[in-house]
Amino acid sequence: MPENTNTISTVGIIGLGYVGLPLATAFAEAGLHVIGYDLAEDKVAALAEGRSYIEDVPSAVLARLVSAGTLEATTDPTRLADCGAQLICVPTPLGEHREPDLSYVLSATETALANLAPGALVVLESTTWPGTTREVLAPMFEAAGRHIGEDAYLAFSPERVDPGNIRWSIKETPKVVGGLTTECSRRAEALYATICDTVHPVSTPESAEMSKIIENTFRAVNIALVNELAILADRMGVDIWEAIEASSTKPFGFMPFWPGPGLGGHCIPIDPFYLAWRARAFDMDSEFVELAGRVNVNMPYYAVSRIARSLNDRGKAVRGAKVLLLGMAYKADVGDLRESPSLKLLELLRAEGADISYHDPHVATLADEGLSSVELTSERLAETDCVIIATAHMAIDLGTVVEHADLVVDLRNAVRHRLGGGVAGAVPPNVDVL
Ligand SMILES: NC(=O)c1ccc[n+]([C@@H]2O[C@H](COP(=O)([O-])OP(=O)(O)OC[C@H]3O[C@@H](n4cnc5c(N)ncnc54)[C@H](O)[C@@H]3O)[C@@H](O)[C@H]2O)c1
Repeated sequence: MPENTNTISTVGIIGLGYVGLPLATAFAEAGLHVIGYDLAEDKVAALAEGRSYIEDVPSAVLARLVSAGTLEATTDPTRLADCGAQLICVPTPLGEHREPDLSYVLSATETALANLAPGALVVLESTTWPGTTREVLAPMFEAAGRHIGEDAYLAFSPERVDPGNIRWSIKETPKVVGGLTTECSRRAEALYATICDTVHPVSTPESAEMSKIIENTFRAVNIALVNELAILADRMGVDIWEAIEASSTKPFGFMPFWPGPGLGGHCIPIDPFYLAWRARAFDMDSEFVELAGRVNVNMPYYAVSRIARSLNDRGKAVRGAKVLLLGMAYKADVGDLRESPSLKLLELLRAEGADISYHDPHVATLADEGLSSVELTSERLAETDCVIIATAHMAIDLGTVVEHADLVVDLRNAVRHRLGGGVAGAVPPNVDVL
């Protein structure tokens, strides 16, 4: 007999990363017993001691849940057999030719199936192309002798976590769920209702998969649009930040996106290409996705040209200039370096002969670049030719930066925003804004 979902008391999370760990914590906080499984022994060892490596999950909270026995981290997949539901939160990167790499999802699904209790629910949370759950995962269930809707249940529910965002937690962010059968959906809905205020069911896993890709493509395309407009506005001598702020006074039909040095993270630079790849199977080219990709990939190159111009205006060359990059992570207040445009800036500026150092309170070292975060002292700022605000972590004291640096190139408009009274506020004479 299938287990009644309303009695699911133990949840397995496969993959304890930026998505899986906050999710595991949310279920444990809601009083469920959570078994978090990951291949990475070092991560599991740290978590099992109550040490979190993700900013959104404080170690104090984790340690309390671990010592209470509500949250366990393990590298032993057989522990998943105790779970009424297993949620798959593993990476979905791109391959060499920007094609979807589902290898992590496939191996996690094999692990789930090899350790699946009778009547248990499996939910894929990793972002992927519409059709993955039905066309890739469901046949694996059948091949393993499990009958969906009878002795196993399968659904897709996209994760919407926004690392560093304290306004929207898992609880407050509506959760979209699409099951393979009505009963699959019902079980997944009941499970997520234990941690989310709102669960939004859709009729198929494809709708749920598509909804996530629409969200990320929407962001990628709109960011590309303002990035292109920023380049144009610079040529026209128009302040793009002031113009966007003015546009956003329109109370309907507009929402602001802001320019920057490029896209980063595991989602927005990658997920739209899952859709573009899938579109080709339907004789379509997803031109918006490709165009947005081209514009956004160009932004670090454009930012470097603006940095070179700022140095040139002060009679200096990039070659030999002492350049201090502020913020290496891809977004403010997190330590995630994946696809970070700051790494590209570092590479490009180095190639042009700049002498680079960096400061990031969330990134202690960059082993591949042979650099460690330097202290942000007034002496160091004064002896630097150009300070670049690449990612505006709140912990960086911009007042000190502007006071002591000769030249600040602000790729995030953070100085005006924080010190100048607003997006279109005053720009100090030693600051150039993207
Ligand atoms: N990071 C975000 O902000 C975000 C937001 C929404 C959705 N997503 C999506 O969620 C998915 C996961 O992203 P993430 O950022 O959490 O990735 P991550 O790299 O932070 O974490 C993935 C974890 O899975 C583990 N893992 C890989 N293969 C495994 C396997 N076979 N068995 C067990 N563990 C395995 C890894 O060791 C790692 O700890 C991706 O599809 C991503 O697109 C991410």
